[in-house]
Amino acid sequence: MTTITTNQQLARYLNTSLPIGNKTIGNRMVLAPMAGLGHVALRQLIAEFGGFGLLFTGMCSARAVPHENPLISNVFTWQQAELAFLVCQIFGSEPQSMATAARRIEAEGFFGVDLNFGCSVAAICKKGCGAALLKNPDLAVKIVAAVRQAVSCPVFVKFRTGWENNPQFAIDMAKRFEDAGADALTFHPRVAPDRRNRPPRWDIITLVNKAVSIPVFGNGNLFNIADGIKMVNQTACHGLSLGRMAVARPWIFAQWTKGILPGDDIYHTTAMRLTHLLSQHYDDHFAVKMFKKFAPYFCANFKFSQSILKKLIKANTMEEIRTNINLLLKDSPETLETPNLTLFV
Ligand SMILES: Cc1cc2nc3c(=O)[nH]c(=O)nc-3n(C[C@H](O)[C@H](O)[C@H](O)COP(=O)(O)O)c2cc1C
Repeated sequence: MTTITTNQQLARYLNTSLPIGNKTIGNRMVLAPMAGLGHVALRQLIAEFGGFGLLFTGMCSARAVPHENPLISNVFTWQQAELAFLVCQIFGSEPQSMATAARRIEAEGFFGVDLNFGCSVAAICKKGCGAALLKNPDLAVKIVAAVRQAVSCPVFVKFRTGWENNPQFAIDMAKRFEDAGADALTFHPRVAPDRRNRPPRWDIITLVNKAVSIPVFGNGNLFNIADGIKMVNQTACHGLSLGRMAVARPWIFAQWTKGILPGDDIYHTTAMRLTHLLSQHYDDHFAVKMFKKFAPYFCANFKFSQSILKKLIKANTMEEIRTNINLLLKDSPETLETPNLTLFV
């Protein structure tokens, strides 16, 4: 691969099609799965800007998926228009329940299913799910094989380095996931006990990518376009998976892959649009809750991020949030090139 030196070259690379299992995407920049952030409203907001290849849901419980009613679920819910480019992520610890959930996900028409072997939150790991499966590699591989057998749509695995800083473990797991039938990997090169405080080791993405022949999406600390160029050059990954920056700047996909530059009023219009989408999809209480989860990442864009955040979320209703947005963001507060990462929890 030739070295990328300009934003235009990165855009060209990201707009190159990529086969994943029995399907192909036309753009290699994707939204990482994020529980509580990557809900249907944020996804619609991102989709309105465009410029991405795939969107991922936040993790859904495999045990719950077969019984979920998308009309009332806050998590297992989507819009028909996004299904063709939406991957549903599931967590669980039993091959059979993961396979059953995957079957429903395929039947609903999602692009694919993603297996969460990376979440290190105690509540998930305690049940033997998420990153805990990296302590039980044989079971993790059995889950991939069971899901592979159950569906023909693309099967993704998202995983971390493991529980120790041992690149060889990640390489071995990547190969075993490929052998078990995974169609693509999203690799987040951090050890599981490390939430997001230490920098991810992109050098391990390079090693994982070299070890397999299926596409590998690199993930972790992509904050600006120079980071995107650096990750592709350093790791030769097949695509980029962005989490928190896509919350801070939902237009980031359009910016990186279509060269669209946001105007001055982008912060005001984006925050306002999100409130309307949240109100469209959720009751007022849940919509306020989701806006308050989004707000720290969004306010990280501003020079006076902490004080704007504090005032923005001082609200009990969506109407009050809209009033705050008009008061605080209409006159385009001073922004930062790279967000205030202390708010990127
Ligand atoms: C609030 C939050 C929720 C997350 N939820 C999930 C999840 O449900 N499944 C998952 O695989 N990763 C989850 N992640 C991890 C992200 O997908 C991603 O790996 C991580 O944020 C690093 O990427 P970034 O630096 O681009 O944000 C979550 C991250 C955040 C900040």
